[in-house]
Amino acid sequence: MEQTPVAPQTERRKIIFSAIQPTGVFTLGNYIGAVRNWRTLQDDYDCIYCVADLHSITVRQDPASLRSHTLEAYALLMACGLDPDRSILFIQSHNPDHAQGAWVLDCYTQFGELSRMTQFKDKSARYADNINAGLFTYPSLMAADILLYQTSYVPVGEDQRQHLEITRDIAGRFNGVYGPVFTVPEAFIPKAEQGARIMSLQDPTRKMSKSDPNPKGCVTILDEPGAIMKKFRSAITDSEARVAHGPGKEGISNLMGIYSVFTGKDFAAIEEEFAGKGYGDFKTAVGEAVVQGLEPIQRRYKELMADKAYLEECYRRGAQQAMNLSRRTLEKMYKKIGFLHA
Ligand code: TYM
Repeated sequence: MEQTPVAPQTERRKIIFSAIQPTGVFTLGNYIGAVRNWRTLQDDYDCIYCVADLHSITVRQDPASLRSHTLEAYALLMACGLDPDRSILFIQSHNPDHAQGAWVLDCYTQFGELSRMTQFKDKSARYADNINAGLFTYPSLMAADILLYQTSYVPVGEDQRQHLEITRDIAGRFNGVYGPVFTVPEAFIPKAEQGARIMSLQDPTRKMSKSDPNPKGCVTILDEPGAIMKKFRSAITDSEARVAHGPGKEGISNLMGIYSVFTGKDFAAIEEEFAGKGYGDFKTAVGEAVVQGLEPIQRRYKELMADKAYLEECYRRGAQQAMNLSRRTLEKMYKKIGFLHA
């Protein structure tokens, strides 16, 4: 499915799963491409969301930072509107079924297909001194995350498309051998105009990412209003001074996508609003819309981080709820494979 989903009544009980790595404060890309949609999906689906700490150690992490980033990521998900009373919200390493399921799926994943993953190729080039086995088998852990919950839809940004395809292949292969053990999931990727891929403000040919070599290219959802305005004012555009999207206008198209998400206006309305105005006005308007949109999230985040006992209660409960579901699938996998019942 290629759009932000609107669930028909009949899909009410279907399961949504998605996850985010705790590698620092979420970027505007994470928020627009993924987390923002996770919130609305709660109305129509049984949603399961997790902080993917197991995935994050494929790149070396400082232990103290990983610990604090994990709690912060959990609080940020809640601050973005994910509700632990309506959805299951947990931390990946708190449910051992993910690691166990991943081992099994490793044995049903081919070396050749893992070698073709662009993320593996990119990350092994970037971290050439630590090309570990986890970096290589990362997609089978992701497949376990998804398949353990009999997930129907996985809301992610465009960059995760290939991982979703391999998950479907693994599920199909396992089902082909043992019968229908897994639901074969589909990706939910927003339309390009709705932020499937938010680009760096300093280099609109690159995805916005925390690892952007130029920090001005990346806005995080906890950035102060002043910093947000500054980053938008210095965003790279083009020399044409016309607010419109299309080839050669990647910078402006990216800003239009962001503005559209925060104001609800479509591209035609944005072009009309800024007809005859300069880029300065437009960039200021985008910055202001983002500051305004993020303000309630920032406020809620501060409140949540001041109540660690509540966060702890939520993530413990979430892990238990997750385990109650994933255990059923894992047991089925073990039985089908022929492991002797313990
Ligand atoms: P991660 O942590 O890199 O990103 C979390 C989500 O944010 C989306 N995203 C973006 N969307 C639009 N524009 C951008 N610039 C941008 N940057 C990031 C990502 O597509 C993603 O949806 N492997 C996953 C985490 C994961 C997972 C899973 C996801 C682990 N297990 C199971 C789905 C299902 C990752 O590293 O996402």
